Amino acid sequence: MANNSNISRHLPFGEKRDSRFYGQHILTVAQFDKTDLATIFEVAQEMRAMVQRVGSFDLLKGKVLTNLFYEPSTRTSSSFAAAMQRLGGSVIQINNVQFSSVSKGESLPDTIRTLEAYSDAIVLRHPERGSADTAARYARKPIINAGDGPGEHPTQALLDTFTIREELGQLDGLTVTLVGDLKHGRTVHSLVQLLALHNVRLNYVSPESLRLPAALQAQLAAAGVEQRQQPDLAAVLPETDVLYVTRVQKERFTDMAEYERIQGSYVINAALLRSARERMIVMHPLPRVGEIDMEVDNDPRAAYFRQMEYGMFVRMALLALVLGKA
Ligand code: NCD
Repeated sequence: MANNSNISRHLPFGEKRDSRFYGQHILTVAQFDKTDLATIFEVAQEMRAMVQRVGSFDLLKGKVLTNLFYEPSTRTSSSFAAAMQRLGGSVIQINNVQFSSVSKGESLPDTIRTLEAYSDAIVLRHPERGSADTAARYARKPIINAGDGPGEHPTQALLDTFTIREELGQLDGLTVTLVGDLKHGRTVHSLVQLLALHNVRLNYVSPESLRLPAALQAQLAAAGVEQRQQPDLAAVLPETDVLYVTRVQKERFTDMAEYERIQGSYVINAALLRSARERMIVMHPLPRVGEIDMEVDNDPRAAYFRQMEYGMFVRMALLALVLGKA
């Protein structure tokens, strides 16, 4: 894992310091190797067991997390808040930046400097690619990237990978079909890099203009990942183990007519899933805006609501590891 040495100089007293996650920023999935994933998932499983047994416990009592969201969020923001609270910590929630000094023109570095004075870690979502790295350059406390524009969404990719493991047992040997906005989808950009640590085959199903960025495809090819553009979703469904569906990212479009033209290109419904395997899963980072018909929700292969639940356990694990109590 990349060493954020500016952080490690500021160890508070009384923390457990042997975790290689302790005090580290979480900015990109590129900082993780397979050993890191195994550690995070092991702790996430412990968190799940503890939540089921006792609901919440005081591992991070006295710790304060700031949730700083410059873009809308339901799941990421509330699951981080729930994760922190279930570990006995508390949360400063800033999601209406128009009511903060950001609306007076305060810069991201100054906002970060302010909030880290009051808290032990900051979860940041921001519309600009690279914003989490910028924040981390100024921060002395850990920054957790919760989405930097069309860049990355590492904690989502961790929970997506955890979901696949929990649901299908392992990742090696799987065929993963990614559908939708592969160009702007930050969850996709992060997930494919974690999948590349495993022996997987990737199918890309998207409108021509929303293909996975060429640089990312080249990076995966160099890592030896088998990738195929697939114009026809129905044709690849029978060989698919994981169908990862995404929303066309409206907020990244400048031309709304183009968005309207493309939106709705792919819709997963019960009829389509008839040709899918019995043992496969349908995932979506959510929110969905019509890509998966509600009639699919009761299909046992529909994993997107379970995926969302796994998210809290993974975020509990990350908070415990980064704040040094795992
Ligand atoms: C995603 C995001 O914000 O990138 N949502 C999430 O965090 N679960 C996906 C999306 O907005 O389409």
